[in-house]
Amino acid sequence: MKKISPILLFLFGSFIIQAQESTIPSSVKNVEKKVDSVLSLMTLEEKVGQMVQYNGSWDLTGPASNVDSKYKEERLKNGLVGSMLNVLSVEATQEAQKLVMENSRLKIPLMFGYDVIHGYKTMFPVPLGETASWDLEAMEKSARIAALESAAHGVNWTFSPMIDISRDARWGRIMESSGEDTYLTSKVAVAKVKGYQGNDLSDPQSIAATAKHFAGYGFAEAGRDYNTVHVGENELHNTILPPFKAAAEAGVATVMNSFNDLDGTPATGHKILQRDILKGDWNWDGFIVSDWGSIPEMIYHGFARDKKHAGEIAVKAGSDMDMEGGAYESGLIELVEEGKVSEEIIDDAVRRILRVKFKLGLFEDPYRYSNPDLLSQVPFDEHREIARDIARKSIVLLKNEKDLLPVQNDVKSIAVIGPLANDKDTPIGNWRAQGETNSAVSLLEGIKNAVGDDVKVNYALGTTLGQGERSFLAPLEINTTDRSGFAEAIAAAKKADLVIMALGEDAFQSGEGRSQVNIGLAGLQQELLEEIYAVNKNIVLVLQNGRPLEISWSAENIPAIVEAWQLGTESGNAIADVLFGKYNPSGKLPVSFPRAVGQEPLYYNQKNTGRPYSPDSVTYSAYTDEEKTALYPFGYGLSYTTFEYGDLKLSSEEMTPEGSIQVTIPVTNTGKMAGKEVVQLYLRDLVASTTRPVKELKGFQLVTLAPGETGEISFKIDEEMLQFYNANKEWASEEGEFEVLIGGNSRDLKKGSFTLNE
Ligand code: NOJ
Repeated sequence: MKKISPILLFLFGSFIIQAQESTIPSSVKNVEKKVDSVLSLMTLEEKVGQMVQYNGSWDLTGPASNVDSKYKEERLKNGLVGSMLNVLSVEATQEAQKLVMENSRLKIPLMFGYDVIHGYKTMFPVPLGETASWDLEAMEKSARIAALESAAHGVNWTFSPMIDISRDARWGRIMESSGEDTYLTSKVAVAKVKGYQGNDLSDPQSIAATAKHFAGYGFAEAGRDYNTVHVGENELHNTILPPFKAAAEAGVATVMNSFNDLDGTPATGHKILQRDILKGDWNWDGFIVSDWGSIPEMIYHGFARDKKHAGEIAVKAGSDMDMEGGAYESGLIELVEEGKVSEEIIDDAVRRILRVKFKLGLFEDPYRYSNPDLLSQVPFDEHREIARDIARKSIVLLKNEKDLLPVQNDVKSIAVIGPLANDKDTPIGNWRAQGETNSAVSLLEGIKNAVGDDVKVNYALGTTLGQGERSFLAPLEINTTDRSGFAEAIAAAKKADLVIMALGEDAFQSGEGRSQVNIGLAGLQQELLEEIYAVNKNIVLVLQNGRPLEISWSAENIPAIVEAWQLGTESGNAIADVLFGKYNPSGKLPVSFPRAVGQEPLYYNQKNTGRPYSPDSVTYSAYTDEEKTALYPFGYGLSYTTFEYGDLKLSSEEMTPEGSIQVTIPVTNTGKMAGKEVVQLYLRDLVASTTRPVKELKGFQLVTLAPGETGEISFKIDEEMLQFYNANKEWASEEGEFEVLIGGNSRDLKKGSFTLNE
């Protein structure tokens, strides 16, 4: 299996001799030497070839191109392709790699990329859901497992993590994100990069990660996918870029740019973002891949005259690889020959691409990921167990009245009702990689697995939700007319001690291209819920969805609500673990749930405005027909126990930039069950050279407490935590007063304050 390309023999001979004393570690130095050596052998055509990525058509995650597969094959044989996406399986990747290794002049191995967003085969919660666990170790673990399963199927590069700050529930891609908060997303970004890439990219169980989409995509106007983005420099630096910086510092191998324009410049052609900030200021040495066709899409943006022009703009701006755009392969050589693009720019791009390939160990063994033995070693059963644990950690208990949960022992008959009750597919979610259709444990199955023989479980569909073809690219058809299942569901509810309603979204309701102007319960679900409520008020509403939903009626009327996202392979068992008290829920919302869709985009860390409140007139920043606050705020989630926060204590009320202060708060478990709380620290900079948010998450800790136990929870506050991108366009802290806020969600907080003296 192991093949060493002829150029390597040349390489191994040369770099050793040239190694010099320097501060750069020798492993890095060696990679650089190798990269330079390969580059020096390449023709311009071969260099441009490395900057080309083709779709392999085992999966389709963008508009199909009309490029003939024979033509692609020829280019592969000639060493004129740098990577492929959507080539799946050991055999397929082997075959494609062989075309290159057995025919091309320099035998530069291909990378194989894929959207492994929340698992490869074993599916974990969709990223928004998984972030609700606030458990960074768990998130790293699921990425590690996804890497292992991908690597065993020939895939050595994932287009994940998606770290776009997402504040708009109308935007379908919010499900792929870690929600609305910059600090939390930055932490998740690092955990994911570590999980995918491991300690070392050359470990054959590690794959290259991609931080995407650079940048601003989550701010698509009106939540409409691919739409224009208007953000100022202040917001860009303070809110959008920090997760990317964190990923870059964690060594993410690649970054993907994005479809949107940003204040008039398409991100793909944005030089300040890509070349100046990412590759310049941050000194990041990986490569940037375009999004699918985003280079030629600059023609539609009205930013490029034609494909060649689009290629010129993109390459100069710093986009290194063209995903399915056809612009680089058709225009770059000519652009260099005409002197419009310098060969140094091309060299820089190719150097970056080769660097990642070397780090992945592909030059050593191009087939290291296409090894049939790896697959038989993947412990899929163990992965399922871990998936179940992460899934239950991701569940958020939104409401629990009448002691409905955990389900009491005197409940002897349960009606499980709704389109998602026995749906084995929706929990797999969108962006499912090779997660099989209908392969999840449904809620009904989970409930049946959990209850004893003395509990009668009666299932009724009630209504369907998504119908017809359901797939990544197909438009989704929602049932709005067929009520034929209502009568059976109502009858089942009438005779049950407890009703578990399974409502929410179809798997393909959120995701790319799935923006919606309505975010309530789609189709006939609300109507069904109200009819069931009319006959039995003991309802636990279990929601499965990829985006925050508008559920004001349920929040008002339904006694218990469980947010169960799309939890992946073990969904039903994980939900049952929570419903029946085997697991005490501990998840907290990574995104605000609105009272009405008209509040979107909605997020907790807003600015105060000049008119935050007025007791006696309408002339302040609010709505006249609805409250301006979230229905369920960021960071919110209940437990089967209760936690009480005492007063916070500061080690000092003065701080210098060199110093730090310690803030401590007692948190007591005042209920009857052991439980886990996510203790959250927020800060507010009261007066600054630019307006600052009313609060910003700056730390959190997961704390487990026994009944009656009090934990003294401490956070250290240092100057770095007070920095922001200020009016002088630099990251710095400014002297003055700061508020410290600690609590179990972003709304209910204990307060203190201190002063920073410069
Ligand atoms: C388009 C999406 O925006 C991006 O996230 C994805 O990685 C590519 N298609 C490849 O499927």
